[in-house]
Amino acid sequence: MGNSMKFSMKVGKPETVAADCIVALVHSGGVLGATAQALDAATGGLVGHAVQSGDISGKPGSTLLLRGLPGIEAHRVLLVGAGEAGKLDGKTFIKSVTPGVKALLATGATSAAFGPAEALSDRDAGWAVQQIVVALREATYRFDQFKREKADAPKLLSVTFVAAGDDEKPVKAAIAAGVALANGIELTKTLGNLPPNVCTPSYLAETAEGLAKEFGGKGGKLKVDVLERKQLEALKMGSFLSVTHGTVEPPKFIVLKYDGGAKKAAPVVLVGKGITFDSGGISLKPGEGMDEMKYDMCGAGTVLGVFRTLVEQGLKLNVVGLIPTCENMPSGTATRPGDIVTSMSGLTIEVLNTDAEGRLILCDALTYAERFKPAAVIDIATLTGACIIALGSVNSGLFSKNDALADELLAAGKQALDPAWRMPLDDEYQEQLKSNFADLANIGGRPAGSVTAACFLSRFTKTYDWAHLDIAGTAWKSGAAKGGSGRPVPLLVEFLRQRAAA
Ligand code: BES
Ligand code: MN
Ligand code: ZN
Repeated sequence: MGNSMKFSMKVGKPETVAADCIVALVHSGGVLGATAQALDAATGGLVGHAVQSGDISGKPGSTLLLRGLPGIEAHRVLLVGAGEAGKLDGKTFIKSVTPGVKALLATGATSAAFGPAEALSDRDAGWAVQQIVVALREATYRFDQFKREKADAPKLLSVTFVAAGDDEKPVKAAIAAGVALANGIELTKTLGNLPPNVCTPSYLAETAEGLAKEFGGKGGKLKVDVLERKQLEALKMGSFLSVTHGTVEPPKFIVLKYDGGAKKAAPVVLVGKGITFDSGGISLKPGEGMDEMKYDMCGAGTVLGVFRTLVEQGLKLNVVGLIPTCENMPSGTATRPGDIVTSMSGLTIEVLNTDAEGRLILCDALTYAERFKPAAVIDIATLTGACIIALGSVNSGLFSKNDALADELLAAGKQALDPAWRMPLDDEYQEQLKSNFADLANIGGRPAGSVTAACFLSRFTKTYDWAHLDIAGTAWKSGAAKGGSGRPVPLLVEFLRQRAAA
């Protein structure tokens, strides 16, 4: 990851900050934000003049660049519209920050400054700082390691947040939180974007081990274990192993343990689906768009990204990550529709469709999770096309029988602007998973496809509080902007931060 943007904090007044560009908010009707007011006073009213002359509307997303103003240290002033004064909420703030960052990066500025954060109606000032960091990293993220011609490196190298004397500490903490979150999001995106001939189960295992090497050292808070096929056989993970029968690529079961909390405190367990390529197996998928099934490991990528953030920030809680990872390929040795396999839990499964493989690897990981006596288990999976039909790419699908846990995750998604929508999990849907020949079938037909997939998983989660996030619609973008989104790392990081603070 080659992002070399530096973030720092400086106590002072906006007009005295020496930077190539200082960014300030302007509200509807030409109302200047606090930083713009300070710059206006120092320049003898030039900022206000430009605004009054109608060069910027103040609508979220409008921008105006002023250059060479006297009386201030910064070479440029970038005004960014932020909507109605006094009504600035988190959502509007992001609508302003994203185009603001774009306009900033389009200038030649190598250094930038942001004035003291405006008060938001529904978020604290630290949140605003964190989001600016994340937006800058988002806008400068590139995935061009396989291209001969690289995109131009961003010119902007250093970013300063101007703080009033009394909020040094929270601003510094917000910068650190933003950088840690951006690092996690970036890792998740890159793992998703890597081609499936590179990002194999072994590659995911090496990535986890790399995290432990980089961050495990100080205090040894992160430990990683990788279970190989032999060990999975000994554990009787017959359902997981059935998915690997068609491929020569060795499966891995990655166990990450982060001990940031009290010794005996029950951990949160995150389980990520790690299908590094989903061809469908013998129930082969149609060819069109099949390349996108390299993203079928985005649940695993999310767990690794969340751990990246977690260890960098040193959050005070215990978290276990479980990643069952393999390829789903057809071959003469592949699992057939009609095969019956025995899961680690002892439940037998009739595999009616080898393309419903995510639940087959997750169910054994969910059984394995029992040994940690978890405070809660959350699995994250690109599980069903049906979830995309239900929710599109706006909300991740959230399934849980536990109202408190569901509410916690929904609130975290709202706060992080990485939303999820709760879906049903009524027992009546279990009917659709009945098999004539085994304890359950691995598909439930077309109606409520994302619900029956979640119902399948619920059969393996009886001994702890559990939630399932179906991220098939949110983990990556298709079309011209094809690429990993880094979701739902922000949601999960917010959830863990709240738990660590509780
Ligand atoms: N990985 C897919 C789900 C998926 C499909 C995610 C498209 C994102 C985009 C999963 O393994 C799958 O193939 N699910 C099947 C289940 C069906 C066979 C019951 C599906 O959704 O069609
Ligand atoms: Mn599949
Ligand atoms: Zn899949």
